[in-house]
Amino acid sequence: MTAPLFSPVAIRDLTLKNRLVVSPMCQYSARHGFANDWHFAHLARFALGGFGTVMVEATGVTAEGRITYGCLGLWDDAQIAPLARIAAFVKSQGAAAAIQLGHAGRKASTALWWRNGFDETDAEKADVAFEHWKPVGPMPIAHVQDDEYQIPRALEIGEFPALVQSFADSATRADKAGFDIVEIHAAHGYLLNQFLSPLGNQRTDAYGGSFDNRTRLPLEIVQAMRAVWPAGKPLFMRMSVQDAAPGGWTVEDSIAFSRIIREMGVDLIDCSSGGFEGATFNVGPCFQAPLAQALRGSGMPTMAVGLISTPHEAEALVAGGHADLIALGRTALDDPNWPHHARAALEGGDSYAHWPRQTGFAVRNRDRALRRTPQVS
Ligand SMILES: Cc1cc2nc3c(=O)[nH]c(=O)nc-3n(C[C@H](O)[C@H](O)[C@H](O)COP(=O)(O)O)c2cc1C
Repeated sequence: MTAPLFSPVAIRDLTLKNRLVVSPMCQYSARHGFANDWHFAHLARFALGGFGTVMVEATGVTAEGRITYGCLGLWDDAQIAPLARIAAFVKSQGAAAAIQLGHAGRKASTALWWRNGFDETDAEKADVAFEHWKPVGPMPIAHVQDDEYQIPRALEIGEFPALVQSFADSATRADKAGFDIVEIHAAHGYLLNQFLSPLGNQRTDAYGGSFDNRTRLPLEIVQAMRAVWPAGKPLFMRMSVQDAAPGGWTVEDSIAFSRIIREMGVDLIDCSSGGFEGATFNVGPCFQAPLAQALRGSGMPTMAVGLISTPHEAEALVAGGHADLIALGRTALDDPNWPHHARAALEGGDSYAHWPRQTGFAVRNRDRALRRTPQVS
């Protein structure tokens, strides 16, 4: 019997073969925004591992919108080809190819996560194509005052049309690259979250202040992207459903916002949280799943993410109607074959049939030789 986690689901003209999604994860391995063999190998292994959807990391719609100099971009037609190679391979394995498009705003031009700040030597800088630039944001206020985060230049109202167009143009390039799904990154304290949240946006013009004004830029972007992104292809948005910080964006705000964007053609919200200083979380297994449940209850399909690590947790979230899709981040890094192992745990039977034909028979033979039933590692 097919477990709900492995049941297909149709969104617009796309049918996902199961509910498992690889969460977008920055690899800080690009030069000048171009995908390379690292990104190919990193993402290809999840398609081989049985994920229904493989999502490319946060990809800058402008060069200055990258989180770091090592992040991917899709602001130039020349950046399409290496991403197209990844999308084609992912799709060849029966998975859907997704890409997250975003702008880091005042959290742009930061240090690579695994480094100790900007500690690159001159030789390394040349090797990794180091870049450093002044970010933009809703306000001339830094994310935090330290050596890493700069005081951004406040965006002028006359710059918004070009910014909106850059999201639309990147969506057009994502379509040309063959992606099935685009996800707008509006979470984690990056540019769109900076506009949505009272913690990031104290503008006094038409783009700040009231809920209607703070949501204006994200809504313009949704509208422009939906206009160019094919009607048959799903458009997702990742949100910080709550800032989880005093005076911040709340679950109620997200419910109100999701009703508006659902009408505008957003098909699903990928439910994350946080991104501003002062956020407090009770981190634990599936800790953000209640956010996906809250939004789904208001009629918006949702994806749950955050410390989901066992097959039974993921299955319970889908079977219980808490979320439509399940995103795995670090659990996918730990075990790219997690879906195959989860299938064996939930369904039993000959789960090897779902592995790529090049490898499934061999794993089956090993387990027979060892008289081992399929086990989740
Ligand atoms: C290495 C790494 C890079 C990440 N990059 C992104 C990103 O590009 N976009 C994003 O929305 N979230 C990003 N995240 C957050 C993950 O997508 C995910 O939401 C988070 O890790 C929680 O899920 P997990 O507990 O399954 O890892 C990143 C997380 C990690 C560990």
